[in-house]
Amino acid sequence: MALNREKLRAHYSDFLRSDRILLTGHSHQAWPNVARLGLEKAYRDAANHVDDKWQRATEKADCVRAAVADYLNTASDEIALAQNSHELAVRFLSGLDLAGRTLVTTDGEFHSLRRQLIRLEEAGVNVKWVQTTPISTLVERLADACNDKTAALMVSTVLFKTAEMVTDLPQLMDYAVGKGIPLLLDAYHAYAAVPNQLGTLPSDNIFVTGGGYKYAQWGEACCWMRVPAECQLRPIYTGWFSDFAGLDGAQGTQVGYGSTPADRFAGSTYDPASHYRAVEVIDFFKQQGMTTVALRETSLQQTELIMKQLPNCEVLTPIDSSRGGFVSIRHPRASNLIQSLRDLGIFADSRADIIRFGPAPYTTDDEIIEAMTSFNRLLRTG
Ligand SMILES: Cc1ncc(COP(=O)(O)O)c(C=O)c1O
Repeated sequence: MALNREKLRAHYSDFLRSDRILLTGHSHQAWPNVARLGLEKAYRDAANHVDDKWQRATEKADCVRAAVADYLNTASDEIALAQNSHELAVRFLSGLDLAGRTLVTTDGEFHSLRRQLIRLEEAGVNVKWVQTTPISTLVERLADACNDKTAALMVSTVLFKTAEMVTDLPQLMDYAVGKGIPLLLDAYHAYAAVPNQLGTLPSDNIFVTGGGYKYAQWGEACCWMRVPAECQLRPIYTGWFSDFAGLDGAQGTQVGYGSTPADRFAGSTYDPASHYRAVEVIDFFKQQGMTTVALRETSLQQTELIMKQLPNCEVLTPIDSSRGGFVSIRHPRASNLIQSLRDLGIFADSRADIIRFGPAPYTTDDEIIEAMTSFNRLLRTG
């Protein structure tokens, strides 16, 4: 059932204002007011329990893991957490054997991965960049780009520039598992936006990463990666939280990793306040019936409405349901237009010549129509 957006808005009164329209839901959504409660609880636990707060902080982290595991239909101990997805991708890369081998990825990956892979290329690592267009054959072309020297495959499940969903991912997963190639799926634009398209996750080779800053409304520093149960990678970039049990034992010449899949990819001391905040938001979503299915239904209605209001634009986002939670258009004056919208109190964003409009569950149809009317006026008047 689609959500009652008008009713939901009252719960976001700290973020929502009558003089601005937030269409940056694909980048970062407003937090519900209960988020503040989480931050206050984190503060109180730190003050009351000093260093003993970590037991409580761990319980919050476990709730975050459980929410992600529920979405991915996998076990909680397979969910590693980190401040951002870059940290997790680098941990993944640091566990691979890269000598004389090739990383296969696309030209449509988010900057965290794109930049890191270009830097590795500069340092001598082979990287094969597969074009994302046409998206209908991307999975086939990714598989064709692999051979027995492929160190890993890395691809987004929903593209950050166009909101195109990469379909056929289960086939790519089958391929990767069959060939024993680690596959990292960047599902940041799917989590809490698109129901899980991955089916049952195999017990080896398939890694999935994402975070809570966008559609889940958790705020920053709540990123995660699914680590398959049979993973034996030994990340070079490893923090001491990776092996709590081994810390008091004899320290040999080889580092150990903890017993759970997630342990392998753990970092070190972090700010747990973000998880306290996330837990309040997770509970709020449950209370409000904000399941991924309901969020998706609302989002499809909203993005359809946005697309209908853009008849004279080069829309890059699919009109059918193979789209994620935002709408992209191409325009040579993208950043100027975004600035002019901002001057009117309308928040959207641009990436080079692409403009992105991202609604959220609290965005009303009236807001969408007002924003698109202003945008069309700017297009006409220059
Ligand atoms: C596809 C995708 N992956 C990852 C991120 C975030 O990366 P990080 O957590 O490294 O900041 C974003 C965006 O903001 C994104 O669009």
